[in-house]
Amino acid sequence: MTKSNALADKQIILGVSAGIAAYKAPLLVRALTALGADVQVVLSANAHHFVTPTSLQAVSGHPVRQNLWDESAEAAMGHIELARWADIVIVAPVTANTLAHLAHGFAHDLLTTLCLATEAPIFLAPAMNQQMYQHPATSANLETVRSYGYQLIGPESGEQACGEFGPGRMTEPNDIAGALAFSVANIDQSTSQTKIRPDLRDDRLSGLTVTITAGPTVEAIDPVRYISNHSSGLQGICLAESALRAGASVNLIAGPRVAQTHPDINRIDVISAEDMFNAAMASIQETDLFIGVAAVADYRPAVSATEKMKRSGEPGAGVSLELVENKDIIAHVAEHPDRPLVVGFAAETNDTLAHARAKRIRKKLDAIVLNDVSDPTIGFNSTHNAATLIYDHGEVTLPKQSKQQLADNLITNLAEIFGKKLADTKRQSVTN
Ligand code: PMT
Repeated sequence: MTKSNALADKQIILGVSAGIAAYKAPLLVRALTALGADVQVVLSANAHHFVTPTSLQAVSGHPVRQNLWDESAEAAMGHIELARWADIVIVAPVTANTLAHLAHGFAHDLLTTLCLATEAPIFLAPAMNQQMYQHPATSANLETVRSYGYQLIGPESGEQACGEFGPGRMTEPNDIAGALAFSVANIDQSTSQTKIRPDLRDDRLSGLTVTITAGPTVEAIDPVRYISNHSSGLQGICLAESALRAGASVNLIAGPRVAQTHPDINRIDVISAEDMFNAAMASIQETDLFIGVAAVADYRPAVSATEKMKRSGEPGAGVSLELVENKDIIAHVAEHPDRPLVVGFAAETNDTLAHARAKRIRKKLDAIVLNDVSDPTIGFNSTHNAATLIYDHGEVTLPKQSKQQLADNLITNLAEIFGKKLADTKRQSVTN
């Protein structure tokens, strides 16, 4: 399955709440239907002030629902049937108000009622004034809905309808559709949360704690610009799920925009390389096996401006950015006197085996997983990967396969190669 057709034939409820970004909802319907989805739109109680049901009906081809008490609409498809109809629910925009209602389980209108009643995965694309977005109440509500397994798409930073600058702009409709397609592809491809059942777990890593880094890091240039990379975090998520199935306790230190993870995974969200470094170092005492899958930014701006950098106004004028090197997280973990077993990844484009072998030794790693990222069909931001696992006494070639299969194969190999060492060095706190 490719990223772009993951929405083909999916039944999607698009919830629209009452914010200025609601005017983009017809474009989002278009973007989703262009990917083959069947979309029904549900407006929150006040969203009709920002976008007309008529235009949404025209683009979706379905009557637009907005009232819990509409007898004729309920007779055609009751709100519970509508909740069951959905394969996916996306609320875009989700305002601060609707977010608060979702976080606290209110069912005061059709949209919030549907979100409570559905078993479908729920995605939210926040849009609000930057002060509202940064208010501690909104942060707490975002944290709460994440804990329910809702996935966030955006928001972006930039100029807002109110004329202010900052985080809170809704992600553009085409990008929301793309992110949704990508997440759904990942859910379908990986053995996702619903597929990890206790009876499917085994005990190859039982009693051990595995800590995994995943995704990109984001290094701020100013409040709206940053340096990052194309890592999606999928390979790290798949490894975390494989380790969980192998009976381990799993910590996942996840960079920004890494998709939803199984509730039994202890997830620590971070933004910058420095945050990831701190989280990794804090995990050492409890970790038996550390796996660095993250694409950590090697450099960050020497200074992160507190205000948005302005244009000089002179076309062609040069701007230079001083960069400083970030700490090497995995090398620090490997150098720690109480180090766990340490496995790194190596994303290489040329002389791949030679570079990866040298990297393993330079960083004092027990093993390294080589990805040849010159092949665009594997590695960064793709659903598949191929790798060579390199360790002290040998190398194992794992041909192209889904990232979940690769993760399962890596865990199997690591358990076989290092099982005895891991058992012998198991953290005392676990055996006490
Ligand atoms: O996230 P996905 O889209 O699923 O893609 C997966 C992946 C391609 C990102 C993954 O499979 C991968 O190759 N990850 C390593 C990417 C990388 O940054 O490689 P590197 O060769 O630059 O780093 C080598 C090792 O050092 C890695 O374990 C990395 O996590 C670690 N590192 C690097 C720099 C740094 N400052 N600190 C680190 O810990």
